[in-house]
Amino acid sequence: MNLFDVYPLFPIEIVQGKGCNVYDKDGNEYLDLYGGHAVISVGHAHPTYVKAISEQVAKLGFYSNSVINSLQQQLAEKLGKASGYEDYSLFLVNSGAEANENALKLASFHNGKNKVLSFKQSFHGRTSAAVKVTDIPKYVAPVNDGLDVTFVALNDIETVRAELQKGTYSSVIIEGIQGIGGIQVPTTEFMQQLRQVCTETKTVLILDEIQSGYGRSGKFFAHQYYGIKPDIITVAKGICNGFPMSGMLISPMFTPVYGQLGTTFGGNHLGCAAALAVLDIMGKENLVENAAKVGAFLLEELKKIDGIKEIRGNGLMIGMEFEQPIKEIRTKLLFEQKVFTGVAGTHTIRLLPPLCLSMEQAQDFLNRLKKCL
Ligand SMILES: Cc1ncc(COP(=O)(O)O)c(C=O)c1O
Repeated sequence: MNLFDVYPLFPIEIVQGKGCNVYDKDGNEYLDLYGGHAVISVGHAHPTYVKAISEQVAKLGFYSNSVINSLQQQLAEKLGKASGYEDYSLFLVNSGAEANENALKLASFHNGKNKVLSFKQSFHGRTSAAVKVTDIPKYVAPVNDGLDVTFVALNDIETVRAELQKGTYSSVIIEGIQGIGGIQVPTTEFMQQLRQVCTETKTVLILDEIQSGYGRSGKFFAHQYYGIKPDIITVAKGICNGFPMSGMLISPMFTPVYGQLGTTFGGNHLGCAAALAVLDIMGKENLVENAAKVGAFLLEELKKIDGIKEIRGNGLMIGMEFEQPIKEIRTKLLFEQKVFTGVAGTHTIRLLPPLCLSMEQAQDFLNRLKKCL
């Protein structure tokens, strides 16, 4: 059987990782400024993480959600403390798209409405409702086409207000910082007004923190820069440092109803052990603070480099937009300088390293980047 060929692949096989480095099967070392697409939070093969999941799988990897799983409760408590959302509830699923899918459903169950407002250049996943609120029409199959979605330009509060005042919207979904859209940071004023309009019109505000959350922005959640509290927050990627798990943090305004949401694999024992280890490490190693510090250094230094049109971002979620297509620079970075980076469109390179990136590694990256410009 062949693999279904839907991804263009680099001719590199990564077989090992350590901290912010990965190694291919020929033993070449790479600096990982991509984090496997913003997934690696505490670093590759962190010993605490390896120990936690090894011990858990040797004991019990999975059992059904029809019985008590106290690891889920421990995770909810720890995540509540780490994020500042102790009064919210946690529902665990398996992928970013699934978390958003459930968030849109929960909002719609809550207020009985079925329209969603989303933003231009947004990305929220590939499943039915998640892909329909994504502003990339080629990802939407006819079977996904049912949901009624309006896309508004980021920061255009007047259009948002005019739409929401119609009273037909169930929810607004917005990324803390747009990732695939090219690291677009909404303004604080816009986010505060959005919060206010959602409250006034009883529209559920869903913050997709799947890429921008879990410390990546230099705060636990990117929306905490704007001083607002969403009604639902979705998390994935960094939550388990690579083990597939995701979740929703749900405001106390929602009443849980048996049967409305469910999952076979979500919140399984192995995933919870991984997520607990991640929060332990993030706390002990001050990784949110590290992301803020190293990210601020990178942002400042990148702005001094000639040949980059614009630098955007917060913490270790950085976009470098170029006048010219980035293919050549990115290829040089990978094959000559041995640095993994991400992309957004044709002109923006995305930096999404593990949150443990050191100042020395950041400087090393800057040196290697300069050689490619
Ligand atoms: C902001 C955002 N939301 C949702 C998703 C979808 O996550 P997943 O691929 O785990 O379904 C992604 C993935 O890149 C993302 O960046």
